[in-house]
Amino acid sequence: MQRFTSTPDAMKRALGSLPTGVTVISFADDEDRPVGMTANAVCSVSLTPPLVLACLNRSSRAWAMIERRGRFGINILGEGQRAIAEHCARPGQDKRLDPRWLERGLEPGAPAALAGALGYLDCAVDAAHPAGTHAIVVGRVRGILVEGGGGAPLAYFRGAYRQLDPSPESRAEAAWDLLARHGY
Ligand SMILES: Cc1cc2nc3c(=O)[nH]c(=O)nc-3n(C[C@H](O)[C@H](O)[C@H](O)COP(=O)(O)O)c2cc1C
Repeated sequence: MQRFTSTPDAMKRALGSLPTGVTVISFADDEDRPVGMTANAVCSVSLTPPLVLACLNRSSRAWAMIERRGRFGINILGEGQRAIAEHCARPGQDKRLDPRWLERGLEPGAPAALAGALGYLDCAVDAAHPAGTHAIVVGRVRGILVEGGGGAPLAYFRGAYRQLDPSPESRAEAAWDLLARHGY
C-alpha cells in the first residue's frame, strides 16, 4: 500500500478502486426532451419508504434541471450499453437520449427509461443536501422496472468500463471450448 494525503488525485485513485455499476440518470430538459447523465455515485438508502441517493455535481446542467423538475430516473446499465454511458458522460454536450433507446408505455410524466437496462427507478426528489462540490440527492421511488432475463451489468473500475468476469467454472469451460474448436 502506498500512502497519500487527501488530494483530489489520491481520492480518485482510492475510490476508483471500488468497483461500481454504471447508471444513466434520466430527466426532462426545458423543452421536455429526455436527457441522460452517467453516474456511478448511486446507492440504495431505505426499503420502507423506498429511498435511493445519487451524488450529483452542483455545477452540472443535469442537477439544475433535476432540481427544477423534482423528478429523475435511474437506469442501471447492462454490459451492452457502454456507448450510451459514454454518450451521457460528456460534460456540456448535448446528452439527449435517442428515442430508439427508450422503453415505451411509461406512465405520463415519468422520466425516460432505457430499453435493455437491468433496472429502472422512477424517483421524485425527496431531499437534497449540499456536500462540497456535489448535492446528495435523495429520491423517493415511485415506480420500478426490472429486466427479467438475467442480463450482465456494465461495471466501472479504475477509470475504465468493465464487464464482470465470468465465474472460474465458466471461464474453464470457455477455454475447453476454444481448444476443442481448434481440434485439440
Ligand atoms: C463512469 C462515470 C460515472 C460518473 N458518475 C458521476 C456521478 O455519480 N455524479 C456526477 O455528478 N457526475 C458523474 N460523472 C460525470 C458526469 O457524467 C459528467 O460530468 C456529466 O455528464 C455532466 O454533464 P452536464 O454538466 O452537461 O450536465 C460520471 C462520469 C462517468 C464516466
